[in-house]
Order: sequence, then C-alpha cells, then structure tokens
Amino acid sequence: MGFPRHQSALVLASLITVASFVAATAYTQNRLVTLDALSSTIETNAAPSVEYLGRGGVGLRRLRQLLYDGLALSDGHSLVLQTARSQLAALEQDVGNYLRLTPLPGEGELWDELRADLRHATDIARSILQAEEARDTSTANVLLRSEAEGAFDRADRTILAALEFDVSESQQLAREVRALRRATLDTIILLDGLATAVAASAAFIAYRASRRHDRLLNEHSALLAARVTELDQFSGRVAHDILSPLSTVAVGLALVGRTADSHVRVHIERAQGALLRVRELVDGLLAFAQSSATPGSGARCTLNSVVANIAADYAEAARAAHIDLIVEPGAPVEIACSVGVFSSVAQNLLGNAIKYMGDAPVRQVIVRAKATGQIVRLTVEDTGPGIDAELQERMFEPFVRGGHDTAGGIGLGLATVKRLVEAHGGTVGVKSRVGSGTLFWVELPVASISIQSDSESNSQSA
Ligand SMILES: Nc1ncnc2c1ncn2[C@@H]1O[C@H](COP(=O)(O)OP(=O)(O)OP(=O)(O)O)[C@@H](O)[C@H]1O
Ligand SMILES: [Mg+2]
Repeated sequence: MGFPRHQSALVLASLITVASFVAATAYTQNRLVTLDALSSTIETNAAPSVEYLGRGGVGLRRLRQLLYDGLALSDGHSLVLQTARSQLAALEQDVGNYLRLTPLPGEGELWDELRADLRHATDIARSILQAEEARDTSTANVLLRSEAEGAFDRADRTILAALEFDVSESQQLAREVRALRRATLDTIILLDGLATAVAASAAFIAYRASRRHDRLLNEHSALLAARVTELDQFSGRVAHDILSPLSTVAVGLALVGRTADSHVRVHIERAQGALLRVRELVDGLLAFAQSSATPGSGARCTLNSVVANIAADYAEAARAAHIDLIVEPGAPVEIACSVGVFSSVAQNLLGNAIKYMGDAPVRQVIVRAKATGQIVRLTVEDTGPGIDAELQERMFEPFVRGGHDTAGGIGLGLATVKRLVEAHGGTVGVKSRVGSGTLFWVELPVASISIQSDSESNSQSA
C-alpha cells in the first residue's frame, strides 16, 4: 500500500530520524562493550597478576632470609625454619595462583622461564629444610651457600620481569580505556549532532511537504467553491430562462386540450403532468440558486409522492432499456426541502442508474425511501457495471465524468445532488463494486410525519 506524497515524506522523515538515533545508540553500545572488556581484563587479570607476583617476590626474599637466619642461629632455629616452611608454601601458592590466570598477549613466553626458575629455587629451599630436619647442618650450609644464591637470584629476576610486564600491561590497558572513553564521547557528541541535524532536516522536509499538501488542498477547495458558485449562477440563469418558454408550452397544451378528443387528451394530460414536474424542478432550483444555496424556510415536500412521480417519469425509459424498475413503499413523511429540490436529487440518481446500466446481464433498479427517526433515507440501487474506486472519490465534484462513449452528460448531476443535499443538512454517499452494481444513498432531515398515508407510495415494476 502506497502513502500519499506528503505522508510519505513524513513517514520517511520519521524513519530517518529513528534510524539515525538507533545507529548512534548501537555505536555507543558497541564501544561500551569494548570498554567493559578492557576494564574487566584490568580487574580480573592484570591487577591480580601484579598482586600475586608482588607478594611472590617479597615471599622469595623473605624465604631466603629465613633460611640464612635459621642456619645461623643455634638457639630457636627450629622456629625460624618452621616459618621458612610456611613461607615456602605461601610462595608456591601465590605463584601457582598467578599461573592459573589467563596469560595476557606476550606473557606466555615468560611463564616457562618463571616456572623453571621458581621450581629450581623452591627445590633447593626444600632440600635445605630436609637436610636441617635430618640434622645435616653441613649439607644444608653447603646447599645454601653454593646453589641457593644463584637459584634465588634467578627466580627473583624472573618474578620481577613478570611483575614489570604486568604493571606495564595494566598501565597500557588503563591508557586504552581512557583513550577509548574520550574517543567514544567525542563520537557520541558528533553522532548526536548529526542525528539532530538529520531529524531537523527531515522535519523541515515533512513540514514543507505538508505545507504543499495544505496549499494544494486549499487551491482545490477554492476551485471547487468557484465551480459551485458558477453552478449556482448557471442553474439560476437556466432555471430563469426555462420558466417563460415553459409557461408558453403550458398555455398551448391547455388550449389544445380543450378541443382534443379523449384519446389525445390522455396524452396531453400526461404531458401536462410532466410539465408540472419540470416546473416544480425548475422552481426548486431557481429558489435554491436565489437563496444563495440555502434552503428556503418552510420548504416541504412529501417523500412518497415525489418518489412515485419521478419513478413514473422514468418508467418509459426503464422499459425501453429492459430494466426492471422497482419502487419500494416508503414512510408517510415530509422532508424539509422543496419538491423541486428533492425531485432533482431523486431524478439525478435514478436517471444515472438507468443511463449507466450498459449491457449488464441482470437489469434491475430498486428505489427505496425509508424514514428512521428524524432521518429520511433514499437509496437507488442498480445492477449496472459499478464504479471504480478512483472515480468514486471524485464523481461528486462538478464536471467529473466516467469515460463514456455513448451516455451523454456534462458531469453536473452528482455535484448538484451533493450540493442540494448538504445545503439541506443531509448527507450523500455511495457503495459500489465494479461488476456488481451501485447503491447511492441520500439522508435528509424529516420535516413532519404526514397526517394521511401517501397513496402514491406503492410497489411498481416497469
Ligand atoms: N449508477 C451509476 N452507475 C455507474 N456509473 C455511474 C452511476 N452514476 C454515476 N456514474 C458515473 O459518475 C459520473 C458522474 O455522474 P454525474 O451524474 O455527476 O454526471 P453525468 O451523468 O456524467 O452527467 P450529467 O448528470 O450532468 O448529465 C458519470 O459520468 C458516471 O461515470
Ligand atoms: Mg448524471
């Protein structure tokens, strides 16, 4: 389903605005995830590494000192050596914890060396402690002075190297966090600015499109109003110009009727009846045009009699076109408009139903006039070709017609119906399906309920 142009601009503008804010948020989210990962590496890896290695380095030195002190003392050396044993266990625990962490990039190479050097130093420390336990002080002293020195120095150096590595990695990570945070903040400000600019441009485009649409609507309404005014003037002039020749025809018919035989008189009376309705119609239109398109106060007509008369007028045309014309009995009510105006409405709708029947296989027109509460509803339903949606939208405007090769007309019928009905406080509408037929309806306010039921309202078939 497509949108009208001004609505498309609005929808597009909203979509662009939403998309730009979504993009800005997605970018921010992505940067935050990276920031989280960096912070988490510092918190769960680099910082604990520094802590374990720092404690390990201190522990190694303390162990060395305890071994020296333990062997040098003659009194209380067993207590010192006991402390050295605990220190050895704590050292192995700290370095073990460190080695269980995930290695940072480049850190793995340091670990082999650290493992080997530390094992060497702790093995010597353990051998010294075992010699002491076996009261072999001379072996313990030899080990301490010949091998322990170098092994402890090497282990000390590798722990220090790993520590320096982790400290520098922590600093590097912290720098990255800071730089990323600053860059993200700058980009967010830029993206927000861009999104706001896009939203402002989109709003401006939508505003222009809707202004243009409003202007076109106003122009269209002005054009319609001008056409309707023309129509009023036109109908006023035509009505006025028709009235005088009509009087001449009426007088002529009356004169001929006086001397005519009974057979001819039947035709003359029928012609006089038709003439009367033309006169009523013209009178109504004239009154309507002269009252600046507002209904005259106190205008009244009887629903059923007007409908029956119009149906009688069209009976011959319907028969000639092989159309079954059915009029369903209506309510005995009066409508608040003149006979001429209501005749014009009914006649236009019925005339169209017959005129546009074309070669439809089922040929039927049903006219219904019903009163519900204070509303009269006149419907004219046909089994003709139907009206496509595009024409349905515009056909109540003056001079709009369907593409017809044979059916004549100027496209004023429905415009007149709408104008008359709305000017009398009513509404008009249509339901149609191409290929199935059309139903036009008109609703007008009831003026009063007739005292006597209208005898002319009966079902008839042409
Ligand atoms: N009952 C109908 N079935 C099919 N098409 C219809 C029907 N009534 C109206 N139309 C279409 O709507 C158009 C407008 O109708 P409208 O009565 O305003 O003008 P018109 O009949 O063409 O000319 P005019 O009524 O001025 O002689 C018609 O040209 C026709 O295409
Ligand atoms: Mg018409």
